[in-house]
Amino acid sequence: MNSIESLKGLVCLVTGGAQGIGFATASECARRGAAVALLDRHDDEARAAAARIATRFGVPTASAMADVVDQNAVDTAIAECGTRLGAIDILVNCAGIMTPRLAPVSEMAIADVEQMFSVHVGGAYLCAKAVLPGMIDRRFGRIINISSVLGTLGLPFRSGYAIAKSAINGFTRSLAVEVARSGVTVNAVAPGYILTETLQARLDAGMLDYATYAERAPAGRWGLAEEVGHLIAFLALPASGFITGAVIAVDGGYTIRGDPGEAIGPVAPASALDAVRELFGRHGRTAS
Ligand SMILES: NC(=O)c1ccc[n+]([C@@H]2O[C@H](COP(=O)([O-])OP(=O)(O)OC[C@H]3O[C@@H](n4cnc5c(N)ncnc54)[C@H](O)[C@@H]3O)[C@@H](O)[C@H]2O)c1
Repeated sequence: MNSIESLKGLVCLVTGGAQGIGFATASECARRGAAVALLDRHDDEARAAAARIATRFGVPTASAMADVVDQNAVDTAIAECGTRLGAIDILVNCAGIMTPRLAPVSEMAIADVEQMFSVHVGGAYLCAKAVLPGMIDRRFGRIINISSVLGTLGLPFRSGYAIAKSAINGFTRSLAVEVARSGVTVNAVAPGYILTETLQARLDAGMLDYATYAERAPAGRWGLAEEVGHLIAFLALPASGFITGAVIAVDGGYTIRGDPGEAIGPVAPASALDAVRELFGRHGRTAS
């Protein structure tokens, strides 16, 4: 691999790394040579995922259990990973949950809104707080937060998720300016509909319809976790140091489509995703 594309010598910590976008990101960072630590509330799954990455990519890995809303657990887990792999150079805040119950604001439980906020925003905040002093001391760091199209667009009945993802965008910009002169960049990626295990289960249960959201995206399909991981790993590179404070969509054009009623041609069948999987290796370069 060209050295400008390599993460060799760097340590990357991914929260929510046991599966989905977090696992795909950790795998892509490992493919580029980084040592990777997975922090997740599911201990066994995180340990198994770290072992798979170590076997596949031959890099040092670690895993630690923590709920990202718990400051003591986060501090302990990050310190543990640092002891095993070295100081954290790259933090990817990927731990997240879906809206538990869709509801209008008049019926939404404030506890659901607070939970959304504390996992997505509080979690990213606590993890950033834990790694920043070391990054600032060493004058290098990369923090990548996960936003969503819901950070920009209005959709009904998901107010807690929209509040959390909009706040992630604001946190990203504020922190980016705060630490820019310490060699630390802070960016967010904003995925559209990504075919993770969690959303595949919702498709299988008939809670979501693949074609509806494929039609809304100009690309005419959903995305793969590997495609998000590819963007995150790019932002993590030392050579990406002039990109900071950005919220970058990885959504097949979902958020830039002016008029969804304007015909732009037929949607590809879900099987068209196989060609994208092929790009990342026969079954997804980083798939489990
Ligand atoms: N999948 C999509 O289409 C999509 C679209 C936009 C944004 N996102 C965002 O991407 C991120 C990852 O989503 P995903 O689809 O890969 O989810 P996922 O459900 O596949 O994985 C989430 C991981 O986070 C972990 N996690 C959840 N809450 C945690 C907590 N409190 N502490 C520690 N770990 C926790 C889970 O155990 C799991 O391993 C989330 O922030 C989500 O909002 C996803």
